[in-house]
Amino acid sequence: LLKKIFKDEIVDCDAVVKGWIKSIRKSKKFSFMMINDGSCQGDLQIIIDATIENYEEVSSLLIGSSVAITGTLVPSGGRGQKVEMQAKSVEIIGRSDETYPLQKKATSLEFLREQAHLRVRTNTFGAVFRIRHELAQATHRFFSNQGFYYLNSPIITSVDGEGAGEMFRVSGLDAKNPPLNDAGEVDFTKDYFGKETSLCVTGQLEGECFASGLGAIYTFGPTFRAENSNTPRHLSEFWMIEPEVAFADLDDVAKLAGDYIQYMISEVLKNCEDEMNFLVNRHGGNLDESHLEMLKLVRDTPFTKITYTEAIDILNASGESFEFPTTWGNELQTEHERFLAEKHFKGPVIVTDYPADCKAFYMKQNPDGKTVRAMDVLVPGVGEIIGGSQREEDYDKIVAKMDKDDMDKEGYWWYLDLRKYGSVPHAGFGLGFERAIMYITGMSNIRDVIPFPRNPGNCDF
Ligand code: 4AD
Ligand code: MG
Repeated sequence: LLKKIFKDEIVDCDAVVKGWIKSIRKSKKFSFMMINDGSCQGDLQIIIDATIENYEEVSSLLIGSSVAITGTLVPSGGRGQKVEMQAKSVEIIGRSDETYPLQKKATSLEFLREQAHLRVRTNTFGAVFRIRHELAQATHRFFSNQGFYYLNSPIITSVDGEGAGEMFRVSGLDAKNPPLNDAGEVDFTKDYFGKETSLCVTGQLEGECFASGLGAIYTFGPTFRAENSNTPRHLSEFWMIEPEVAFADLDDVAKLAGDYIQYMISEVLKNCEDEMNFLVNRHGGNLDESHLEMLKLVRDTPFTKITYTEAIDILNASGESFEFPTTWGNELQTEHERFLAEKHFKGPVIVTDYPADCKAFYMKQNPDGKTVRAMDVLVPGVGEIIGGSQREEDYDKIVAKMDKDDMDKEGYWWYLDLRKYGSVPHAGFGLGFERAIMYITGMSNIRDVIPFPRNPGNCDF
């Protein structure tokens, strides 16, 4: 792998490297070929002498072709990598042609979004997806090292975990023999083997069950939202990490959230140096080295914590003109969140104790009767990256809230059971994985940090 060759600066030995051609420069006596195998940020320069037997064929290969090269690794005098290869033979594995969409001239992120099957071969998306991998691994390390157990919560579910009615229906319909209602029409409420089901919007409720047995758990899986939001921050299918902790309160998980984000930043800075350096200097990008300085500062500084009421006061005193109202009781909109994180605090901020009416049914009710023990973590450039809360552990209170919200309690009997049998204070949160990747990589559109984005109108491939 090129990664190993560059890292250990392996020279003066023979090797076989396989990869895709990034560029090729031909002359009569020799050619220069840049190849990459996806393992790391750098390309390996190959020097191909005109004396090799298939020189004419090799030197006229086009960008995107795949090759296997046998040769000698030698120290490189040029700028860039410290190693290059003198080819002894070149095997052509798969040819490309003139229609290959990723030509050398800079291609825009918008264009590349339509080439989701190929864009991973570019430097930019190679960097993003290697960082995504690192963040996934760092997530497992972080929680596992602290004694959290990894829970696979179900994807098909019959309850709305957020009570917000934003679920995609699952159809298990037998197309030839669909269930029918009395009027002889297809009965879509019975489309999953006689039952109505949807794709999960969260794994939290099942996470609460397992925290009430294993103590501390985290989920890490896909979640689905049928909200028709076409923004650079919303996907119909995104990945969420949801830790849940028994015998814990909101302050405990607010601390956990800060530690987790700081750990992710520190692991990426440590293990993805080349990728981060590439992204902050990316041609056509809007970042520079200050992005790395900002991340180091966030890694080393405790997160600021304010209440929703304080946030409203700050917004009202700011003199900014916002599109949406900032009177007490209104949900914070992205413009408010970004003002708080970007302009006011110039860094991440945890906002707690939101009005009960803005938030989900399961959140612990505060003694004031108006607010709940909720938190959102807001970061510059993105806005909300985490939503979480302490959970209402009192049976009567949560039932009263579900009744007030007009929820059908029947399907939640198992969830309510937790409040009957050894109920304990517990809390947790959900981190939107793609939002975290956006924040750390500085990519400004969520569709550029997930391999195959699903958003309204986009589910082709
Ligand atoms: O705030 P949300 O809706 O909270 C929950 O789902 C809770 N059950 C979490 C918990 O307490 N266990 O979503 C959590 C996070 C948001 O802060 C955001 O980062 C991300 O999930 N998110 C989305 N990311 C991309 N596209 C969307 N449509 C998203 N909706 C939420
Ligand atoms: Mg939220």
